[in-house]
Amino acid sequence: MKTIIANWKSNPNSVKDAVILAKSTEKAALKYPQAEVVVAPPFLYLTEAKKELKYAKLGAQDSFWNEGGAYTGEVNLAQLKTAGVSFVIIGHSERRRYLGESDEVINRKVSASLRYGLQVVLCVGNQERSEDPMRVISSQLAQDLKGLAPGDKVENLTVAYEPIWAIGTGDAESPDGAANVAARIKEQLTRYWKIGSPRVLYGGSVDDKNIAKFLEKEEIDGVLVGGASLKAAEFGRMIKETNSKS
Ligand code: 13P
Repeated sequence: MKTIIANWKSNPNSVKDAVILAKSTEKAALKYPQAEVVVAPPFLYLTEAKKELKYAKLGAQDSFWNEGGAYTGEVNLAQLKTAGVSFVIIGHSERRRYLGESDEVINRKVSASLRYGLQVVLCVGNQERSEDPMRVISSQLAQDLKGLAPGDKVENLTVAYEPIWAIGTGDAESPDGAANVAARIKEQLTRYWKIGSPRVLYGGSVDDKNIAKFLEKEEIDGVLVGGASLKAAEFGRMIKETNSKS
């Protein structure tokens, strides 16, 4: 089964529009059941989105490392679970870049979320097209997954390769390049964290025109989609494609 995750980022700006988008995504998820569809809205819309999502799964765009207390502004693990969240995206490059989220913080979030029983999607990726992605990614994996052992439910970890230069630019990584990086990430996940069947997604300017080329690659287990996930008709076509490649 291949996975398609909608990362709505900080969109849309009304609960009404969020519900409309959740409804249309659910409709496509129901129609194409071979695809694993995950919708990750802003925290504010989780509860309303959950009411619409029966077949598609609910994701959050971040998590926190504990179950509550004096942490102003944070949404904790117990709250996410209560809202019906089963997936959390952690370490997105926009959080690393604009919120100064460090590998140490990401490591705490990944460890706590896995131990709490959530599916974790850890985002990694390099800044420049000209550099070897694995130089950055190997270091991110080492720091972000530090201390994790097989008993920590590491099988619930998925890594998303999202080169920063490809995010929101319309200039996606080549499918061959993405497959090559995915294979190298998997090698590390197996060697250092003993993950039997590691899963890696690609993200960065995936749309209805190029999605098939990524999903055709055996090494790529799915896609993490930003901009195109906000366009109901286009995202519906992308779910259909994910279904046919599953
Ligand atoms: P775009 O699909 O808009 O390039 O965003 C990718 C992304 O950051 C998904 O997490």
